[in-house]
Amino acid sequence: MITKIHQMNTLARLFLVLVTATFFACSEEEMPSPTPIPDVTPPDPMEEPGLPPLKDEASFLVGMTVATDKLDNPRNVEIMRRDFSSLTGEWQMKMNIMYPSQGTYNFGPADEIVDFAEANNINMHGHALIWHSSTPSWVENFAGSDQEFEDMIKDYITTVVTRYKGRVASWDVVNEALSDDPGHPLRETVFSRRLGPDYVRKCHQWARDADPDVILFYNDYNIAGIQSKRQAAFDLVDDLGDLVDGLGAQMHVRVDWPSRSSIQEFVDGTVARGLKVHLSELDVRTNIEDDASLSQLSDAKAEEQKNKYKEIVEVFNAIPEENQYALTVWGLRDNESWLLDFWGVPEWPLLYNEDYDYKPAYEGFLEGLQ
Ligand code: G3I
Repeated sequence: MITKIHQMNTLARLFLVLVTATFFACSEEEMPSPTPIPDVTPPDPMEEPGLPPLKDEASFLVGMTVATDKLDNPRNVEIMRRDFSSLTGEWQMKMNIMYPSQGTYNFGPADEIVDFAEANNINMHGHALIWHSSTPSWVENFAGSDQEFEDMIKDYITTVVTRYKGRVASWDVVNEALSDDPGHPLRETVFSRRLGPDYVRKCHQWARDADPDVILFYNDYNIAGIQSKRQAAFDLVDDLGDLVDGLGAQMHVRVDWPSRSSIQEFVDGTVARGLKVHLSELDVRTNIEDDASLSQLSDAKAEEQKNKYKEIVEVFNAIPEENQYALTVWGLRDNESWLLDFWGVPEWPLLYNEDYDYKPAYEGFLEGLQ
């Protein structure tokens, strides 16, 4: 069926090219009277029968990131409602946005996102209460004592979790607490310095106390791909015990990395601990390292990317239902991905292209569900 739809699209486009070429190939002398131009308006991908919605095909939550500007875009909204059953705020539910100065909260954007999710019966994942990269400068430079710092962070976590109690189903409590140095697993941040080495536990306790029913995650990057970091994440959740409900692996991956077996190891270790799995922040890079010379997505790379999406979905789909939380894609259209600025080279890491057309990656996602 997928192939047929693509053939239809290709034929429609071919028809358009042929008609346009014929029209311009005719000189004025050859056209005694104005030739009626057939209506060849390109098909609107959202109006023609398309591929099945991801969320209808998946038996688990299929997540997407969102920011308030996307909620002002009808096309985005249509696709979010159609394909996705879970949302994560891409940056407006972080501390630098929600708590810009001491005692003054800015819940406007977060409220808008949570309202949208609720109105559309979409699951809401909170991201992230504490993240060293999105910490406001007044917190970095906090002038009070360590005890005052602790009281302030406790108050912040309590305030935010309480505000969205019953509406935000889950939170990443501390994002990326682990360093990339296996010898010193805990990343040094203002939080580790001022709250002490057991600060992740403290933050989880405050979140748990504020909403005993909310699902609490530890979320980090490269824990599916790098064995030593994966082990550090397992050690951390073992230490948290029942203060954590799930482990989120940011899936900022490449067509050639990590291997299926190392993703599977992450999943198996998480399931063995009785935790929920969130394959969070999924995007698949194609334009990498010595080969970063691609100026457009080649058919071969698109196929590799499709296969990687398929592989990741297959792994997630095989997880026992009680351990599946969500598989969240980190952005809708290729041109909107954070990766473009981050790596400074062209990239096409997502399921939709700039024109909102499905990519082969979307087909890979669907095939992974079969
Ligand atoms: O701060 C301004 C804001 O005032 C203004 O309204 C807005 C207008 O566009 O720009 C704001 O800056 C935004 C910034 O976050 C705020 O911190 C940027 O647009 C926004 O793109 C930016 O980047 C986000 C980043 O996290 C920092 O929050 C990315 O979109 C988002 O993809 C990225 O996500 C992180 C995950 O949370 C954790 N894992 C890594 C991942 C990629 O870095």
